[in-house]
This record gives sequence, structure tokens and C-alpha cells, in this order.
Amino acid sequence: MTDVRVPSFSPDDASLKADPYIAFARLREEDPIHRSDLGYWVVSRHEDVRGVLMNRDDFGQGDFVENIRLFYGRDFDVMGQRGYKWLSEVFLMQDPPHHTRVRGLVTGALTAKRVRAMEPRIREITDRLIDSLAGDGRGDLIARFAYELPVRVMCDMLGIDPEDERLPAVIDAIAQSFIVFEARALTDAELATANTQIGVLQDFFEVLFDERKAVPQDDLATALVQAGGAEDALSHDELVTVAIGLFGAGFETTAHMIGNGLLSFSRFPDQWQSLVANPAAFAAGTVDEVLRYESSLIATYRTALRATQIRGQTIAKGEKILTLIGAGNRDPRMFDNPDSFDIGRDNAARHLSFGGGIHFCVGAELARLEGRVAFERLATRLPGLKVDTEAPAWRDGFLFRGMSTLPARW
Ligand code: HEM
Repeated sequence: MTDVRVPSFSPDDASLKADPYIAFARLREEDPIHRSDLGYWVVSRHEDVRGVLMNRDDFGQGDFVENIRLFYGRDFDVMGQRGYKWLSEVFLMQDPPHHTRVRGLVTGALTAKRVRAMEPRIREITDRLIDSLAGDGRGDLIARFAYELPVRVMCDMLGIDPEDERLPAVIDAIAQSFIVFEARALTDAELATANTQIGVLQDFFEVLFDERKAVPQDDLATALVQAGGAEDALSHDELVTVAIGLFGAGFETTAHMIGNGLLSFSRFPDQWQSLVANPAAFAAGTVDEVLRYESSLIATYRTALRATQIRGQTIAKGEKILTLIGAGNRDPRMFDNPDSFDIGRDNAARHLSFGGGIHFCVGAELARLEGRVAFERLATRLPGLKVDTEAPAWRDGFLFRGMSTLPARW
């Protein structure tokens, strides 16, 4: 039964921006299977978040239209919104067998070999970015580094010219359209912008795939076109949908992982000193600890595919569950001193920030590689780096956690 002392969870609660972990701890300790007034369940313990994500028999994505109508009401025209229509076709939002087919084709193109082969290029891009800012002594590390690195890496992989003049508009369009992932009703203005901006992305990637079909290259875009061969290839619309998802997922979350890491180091300067003293030894552990301590994707959600139970609480078929990744990552049942940032932590990799089960992040190895190189090179080349932690500029939105700017000196 729901503990009435814990206030109803709402992702709109303004206090969640500055520090979501106070509310998360209260839910996790006092009401681990919480019923929000918004009509869905909220789970927060590590074991339960993981359990829901791993359990493909009882939990999945369910009926997309019904899930969105939960936020807007029964009459809402979900598929009439270009942003939601796109989201309904993203393989993350789908259940087997469609999910299995598209995911298989994407992982067949985004292979571990292709990711490993990127390391020298990622090092080169990282060092060039540091070269471009090192002499300035100060600046905004979100715009000049945290975003630039994954955007350039994704451009490189997909075969997009990083100097393409349409790129700034494409990057803005990702931020303004990915708001459709949020578990709430958007305002009319937000929805109108998301609908327009998805159109901008579709136009951009349609041209890219037309070009690759005409003239194949040695890049991920071409590998996606060729995946599955003549028998089972992705259709043109599927290619465009997948590319928007990969491009957006490939830089938003990774950029915020770098920014959130730098913020965490400035709150725990002894940890920065440890990394500076031995960057190569600590860089990989740093990435997992950043993902655990201040995840850039703080939650995801599932739908009960049939009546089931969590900790004895019955969940009816069709009910929605918000899985608080950020709360599970700070669960003291799994992590000692969970609120300290410790890059030598031996079980940091048990964080939930890449999800789990059949939707486990397909970009996890790429994100880890980018993070490892970024933290290693920053600690080596800018050891005196200090960021302003007084009032971090957290971006709007709940699911994606990251800053819009991060002023720093070095
Ligand atoms: C720090 C960086 C990243 C974080 C924290 C992250 C987090 C996640 C999480 C939690 C999921 C599972 C969502 C769910 O089960 O509902 C996921 C799935 C996914 N991620 Fe990532 N991700 C990151 C980087 C990337 C990158 C670099 C790419 C692409 C190159 C990527 C592409 C995807 C895709 C396509 C899925 C859907 C997989 C499926 O449904 O089978 N992600 N990611």
C-alpha cells in the first residue's frame, strides 16, 4: 500500500533540478513502489529498477498511443503529431519482434570492431578541441568541449561533414524534438516546436541516405543502408528514424556525461587530484563512476504487458512504471557511501545508466570510449581545471540530466 507520507512524485517538481537525490532517497527508503497521482508507478531501488528492465515477459513498451494518452487524455490525436509519430517508430519504443529485427540490423552495423577502430580518431578530435581552448584560460566547457566531442565523433562515424552549415540547426533540432521522450504532457508550444524540429531532422537524414544509396562510402550511414542485405534491409523511413535516434542518443547523453563528470570532480577535488596523478589508470573507472553518480539519463519507463507484482504490489496490465535509474544508482543496498563520488569504486560498473535487458544501450561502448579518452586527456593537458559549481545551469526537462553551460578556468 502507498505510504501517504511521501508526496506524489512529479517530474515537473522544480526541486528535482538542483538535487533529485533527496526526493529519490525518500522514495527508495519509504515508498519503493510508489503510486504517483499522475497515474503511474515509480520504482527506485536498484534491484527493482534492474528487475523491471530485465523482465521482458512482464514489462515492455506496450501500446504507444495509450501510453501517451495517459498524459494528455483519451481524445488526444497522438499519431497526428509528427514528433510522437516519429517516436512510435523508434526501436527503443517497440517490443519484439519489430524491436529485435531493427536492433539486430543496427548492432550489425555499429559493431564493436567499428567502435574500437574509432579510438585513434577520438583521441585526435579530443586533442584538437583541447588545443583550440587551452590558450584561452577560461570558457564554457559544455559548448566548447562536452558537446563538440560527441557531435564530431557521431559526424565522423555517420560520414557527415562537421563543417556542414546545416549542422547547428540539426543539433538544435535534436534538443528541441527529443523532449517527446519526457513522461508528461508537453505544452502546446513545446509540442509544436518538437513537431517542426523532427521535420528538420527527417529532411536532413533523407538527403544523407539518398546520397549513400547513390555513392556508398566507408561509414556507418552506408553500413546501415547495407545491413540485412537485399532480403531484410531497413526501409528508407526506417533508416531515417534510426539515424535520428543514433545521432541524438549519440551526443546528448554523452555530452552530459562529460559535463556532469567535470561538475562532480569540482565537488570532490581530491578525486580530480587522483585522476591527474594517474590519468590512464583511473580514466575507465571515472566513466563508470560518473555514470553512476550523476547519470545523464535519469529514468526510463515501461508498461506492464500483463498483470504482475513487484514486492507484493499488484501492477495491472497496461499500467506504466517509471524506473528511476538515478535513484537505483545511489541505492546503499548496492553501493557503499553512495553519495560520494569515488573513481576507485570497485563496483561502479553495476550502475543502471545504460539500462538493461533487451533495450540495453547500443552505444554503451562508444560512450565509454569517448568518456575514457575525454577524462584522460583533460586531466593530462588541463590539470588545473576548475569549474564554477556555485549554481550549475541545469537544463529544463527531467529524463535527460545535464547543464546548458559550465563556466571553467584552467
Ligand atoms: C553516456 C551516454 C549514454 C547513456 C547514459 C545512454 C543510456 C541509455 C539507456 C538507459 C538506454 C535504455 C533505455 C531503456 O531501456 O528505456 C539506452 C538505449 C539506447 N541507446 Fe544509449 N546511452 C548513451 C550513449 C549512447 C550512444 C553513444 C548511442 C549511439 C551511438 C546510443 C544509442 C542508444 C540506442 C539506439 C538505444 C536503444 C536500444 C534498444 O532499444 O534496443 N546511446 N541508452
